[in-house]
Amino acid sequence: MTELLQIDDLAIRFRSYGHDINVLNGVSYSVGWKESVGLVGESGSGKSVTNLAVMGLLPTAVIDRGRMRFDGQDILAMGPARRRRLRGRQIGMIFQDPMNSLNPVLKIGRQIEEGIILHFRVSRSEARRRAADILARCELSDTDVLLNKYPHELSGGMLQRVMIAAALVLEPKLLIADEPTTALDVTVQAQMLDLMSSRVREAGASMVLISHDLGVVASVTDRVNVMYAGSIVESGPSIEVFLRPMHPYTVGLVHSIPSLSEDRGVVPIDGSPPDLAALPPGCPFAPRCRWRLPVCDRIKPAMEPIHRSGAAGSRAIACHNPVSDREAASGTPEPRAVSAGVTQADRMAGL
Ligand SMILES: Nc1ncnc2c1ncn2[C@@H]1O[C@H](COP(=O)(O)OP(=O)(O)OP(=O)(O)O)[C@@H](O)[C@H]1O
Ligand code: SF4
Ligand SMILES: [Mg+2]
Repeated sequence: MTELLQIDDLAIRFRSYGHDINVLNGVSYSVGWKESVGLVGESGSGKSVTNLAVMGLLPTAVIDRGRMRFDGQDILAMGPARRRRLRGRQIGMIFQDPMNSLNPVLKIGRQIEEGIILHFRVSRSEARRRAADILARCELSDTDVLLNKYPHELSGGMLQRVMIAAALVLEPKLLIADEPTTALDVTVQAQMLDLMSSRVREAGASMVLISHDLGVVASVTDRVNVMYAGSIVESGPSIEVFLRPMHPYTVGLVHSIPSLSEDRGVVPIDGSPPDLAALPPGCPFAPRCRWRLPVCDRIKPAMEPIHRSGAAGSRAIACHNPVSDREAASGTPEPRAVSAGVTQADRMAGL
């Protein structure tokens, strides 16, 4: 069976003051049926742009190349009406800040019901019944009272539940959640992620979860893609990538979050991401990378499948000098014999 969402070699730029900002540089990833896929990376790495492109919500972007298919259909070949029908009904999206995603002058009930009526052409009373039902399934009580409230009358946690409910009531095949819990305090974050992933599973839908936090993503998704400077640099089963990262940037992400189970300090990734208007010819992570080789400055590594003993599921990285398990655990490169022209294939032969 084909994947539900398939993105191949997507390259997108914005023009700003006469310069090209290359925000996506050949992104490929897929989401299977009933699969949850994470997308992690620092601010500005292109996580939101990738998914806004899928939703057709980037009016000023230039798509240089690439293909996007949803349920076997070519998204880029669709006209505006078909893309509108895709949004909400086929692909739901939850944004980070519910206050900015809801209309402040419309009651909650009205906002959820409008989507139901538009996409399912049912009566207002049926729409209200479905709205109350989904709110209850998102663990909100007194739904009749709630439907008559305005967004500003609800707490952040309640609003986020309303957003999840509003997306799920349209029964999308894919839910894209873009930093859905970062506006909430940490005690509510875990509850909300659990709620969202269990409702998605219950509905037999798929999910893309976007976050800065590899730990959060590892806890609720099946597979993860790690993004850096508009490219995917590592992908694989989430727990596997989290426990045994192979790309130096992923190692940096893992070591930049505190661990409750291990006695290790938090080590931030030195330096800052490259200027997307002037990307270096080689690996975009090279200026910050402690595993850097001479070849890294000349040749941008491609995503290639990588095998390691004991690994479950397929993994891929874009790196000339993959990190060993021991190095991943310590977060520090070990001395090794390398030649100036070494490539990823040469390195893997020696692993
Ligand atoms: N409309 C736009 N015009 C110009 N540049 C844009 C536009 N939207 C996004 N960008 C740029 O594209 C790059 C990727 O942005 P994106 O919002 O996808 O990052 P992100 O990974 O989602 O970051 P965050 O974690 O902060 O949400 C950034 O450099 C951003 O400044
Ligand atoms: S390709 Fe080189 S610079 Fe880039 S992440 Fe790998 S080792 Fe570091
Ligand atoms: Mg974003």
